Amino acid sequence: MASKKTIEIVKSTAPILEQHGEAITKVFYQFLFTNHPELKNVFNMTHQQKGTQQKVLANAIFQYAVHIDKLEMMKSAVQSIAQKHTSLAIPKEAYPIVGKYLLIAIKEVLGTAATSEIIDAWKEAYNDLSAIFIQREENIYTEREQYIGGYRRL
Ligand code: HEM
Repeated sequence: MASKKTIEIVKSTAPILEQHGEAITKVFYQFLFTNHPELKNVFNMTHQQKGTQQKVLANAIFQYAVHIDKLEMMKSAVQSIAQKHTSLAIPKEAYPIVGKYLLIAIKEVLGTAATSEIIDAWKEAYNDLSAIFIQREENIYTEREQYIGGYRRL
């Protein structure tokens, strides 16, 4: 759970994310794919060209900023994203990579407006959100192991 100060800072950035979220996620994917071209095989490149994935990621981050103090509201969104991630076998090791380039993209787009206080708060908040996804995805993998071809193991 993020500190009270982090929660306040992250919440205060919600309007900035609403305005610049898509610019941030666009830059984020450019950095991500330049530094990890192997991930181009994991993402749907048609969604990238159409800009839909940039939009949904920006919206997810914005929603997180708004709901960081009442995360139970994010439950169904987390479940549906976690389903998508597990269907693509996203490993937990990918989370710090995504976090790194997301923070770089925030800095790049917001420039001096991204104070070190904001960056540190988002670093903590991202780690918390990652932990939520990693836990949920581990549970889904475990649930799936109990089934073979759709049938419950005896
Ligand atoms: C806290 C971090 C993350 C958030 C908020 C997030 C959010 C999302 C959202 C909202 C979607 C769309 C879900 C849907 O279409 O139903 C998505 C899909 C996806 N995510 Fe994540 N994600 C995160 C971390 C990661 C990581 C670490 C990876 C690994 C590289 C990843 C890879 C993907 C892929 C490949 C898709 C499908 C994209 C497509 O259809 O082109 N995500 N994610």
